Amino acid sequence: MKNICVIGTGYVGLVTGVCFADLGHIITCVDIDPKKLELLQSGKSPIYEPGLEELLERNIRAERISFTDSYTVGLDNADFVFITVGTPMGDDGAADLRYVRAAARSIGESLSKPIVVIDKSTVPVGTGDLVTEIIKEHVRDDIPFAVVSNPEFLREGSAMRDFFNPDRIVLGSSRYEAAEQVAALHETLGATIMITDLRTAEMIKYASNAFLATRISFVNEIAQICEKLGADVKEVARGMGTDKRIGPHFLDAGIGYGGSCFPKDVLALHHMAATSGCHPQLLQAVMDINKDARYRFVTKVEALLGDLSDKVIGVLGLAFKPNTDDMREAPSVDIIAHLQEQGAHVKAYDPVAIERASELMPTVTFCATAYDAAKEADALLIVTEWNEFKQLDWGRLREFMRTPVVVDGRNLYEQQDMAKHGFVYWGVGRGVPPMRLEELGQPEYVQALASDQT
Ligand SMILES: NC(=O)c1ccc[n+]([C@@H]2O[C@H](COP(=O)([O-])OP(=O)(O)OC[C@H]3O[C@@H](n4cnc5c(N)ncnc54)[C@H](O)[C@@H]3O)[C@@H](O)[C@H]2O)c1
Repeated sequence: MKNICVIGTGYVGLVTGVCFADLGHIITCVDIDPKKLELLQSGKSPIYEPGLEELLERNIRAERISFTDSYTVGLDNADFVFITVGTPMGDDGAADLRYVRAAARSIGESLSKPIVVIDKSTVPVGTGDLVTEIIKEHVRDDIPFAVVSNPEFLREGSAMRDFFNPDRIVLGSSRYEAAEQVAALHETLGATIMITDLRTAEMIKYASNAFLATRISFVNEIAQICEKLGADVKEVARGMGTDKRIGPHFLDAGIGYGGSCFPKDVLALHHMAATSGCHPQLLQAVMDINKDARYRFVTKVEALLGDLSDKVIGVLGLAFKPNTDDMREAPSVDIIAHLQEQGAHVKAYDPVAIERASELMPTVTFCATAYDAAKEADALLIVTEWNEFKQLDWGRLREFMRTPVVVDGRNLYEQQDMAKHGFVYWGVGRGVPPMRLEELGQPEYVQALASDQT
């Protein structure tokens, strides 16, 4: 059993704290947000993450986890301290390190015994050295400490599973024995542990996220070509993915990546590359393609409905991906803003993200069910691939909707099946809807597009 302090109780910090508590360690989480602390102290999770609240309650009851705003309390007796504060997108594209700097300073000021500082936040290469310097500046001279980089790879929506079953644990430090102590902390997880130097560990995180984002943009570019040439990107991805050199993951064409990591991390890596004299052409293309994917989705709605002013658009899904309420960089935000700019009235439903979404999009009408969002709609858009959108009652929806038009940004349905239900359906990279456009009074160029495909 170890005493562990976790700085920051966001998606990463709270999951880290709760899971280490569940492994039997004693955890003190420190945060500067009083609202979050109040919720956490009462056993409620401020974020939606499957399984998290149950584990939180269990470990509070067992007195293995507690929450405070005091670094002194958090660090008192701690063997390890994890930094898990946010590193949002800065104005110039670089990661904004103000929270990391503040955390390092507070750690330095509050340390009263030797400790291993573990940086789990995603930080630009070289930040481990910066954290070391800041702590050194503020800590008492007689207290030794070491800094270890331990990038986090969990995915929101399956964060608990990812914590307990990691593909690998990466540790980087200039002090091998400190990295070994952190390795021992993770021993019970039985994962592959890689120990390397600080800068390499920091780069592994950026390179991994940039590579996954690249796969998504790659398949979205292929989708665009498929749509023009009459191929089916879903089948293309299936055919590619069975090649062991390629693998099946992150090959779903759609409206691009979002969330709190890929957009800011690709941009931050691009910034790091550009400011160090490199020419990051691929990273630029990845970002451009991602932006286009959202834009192309909206142009499909315009192509099918014509002028959007006073049209009612139902949106299914707001969170950037299923099983989370995280709205950071969610494609839904750009898509809805664009629809509203064109004069559309947007009704939206999401199983868990409405509260967060309503802070960002106060003029949207939020609905209690997917069916409410579809009522009197001129088109229904599938934006997040929540499971509950995979088995909708299209007969019922057909009765509710003003015009039977579905634009699917996640390729959840087959065009032929939707045609049987009487819908004009347009997915991503799977052909243009071939029928009934005239009946809907569609612009001529869409009819022409459709006849090209038949
Ligand atoms: N969210 C993810 O899926 C994910 C996955 C892997 C890595 N990461 C990385 O992990 C880091 C944290 O991400 P997140 O999504 O958990 O962030 P978050 O914004 O959800 O949480 C950060 C928390 O830190 C707190 N905080 C800020 N400054 C503080 C300070 N000085 N002292 C104490 N607490 C402070 C905030 O109040 C907040 O509760 C980021 O660098 C992110 O890139 C996130």
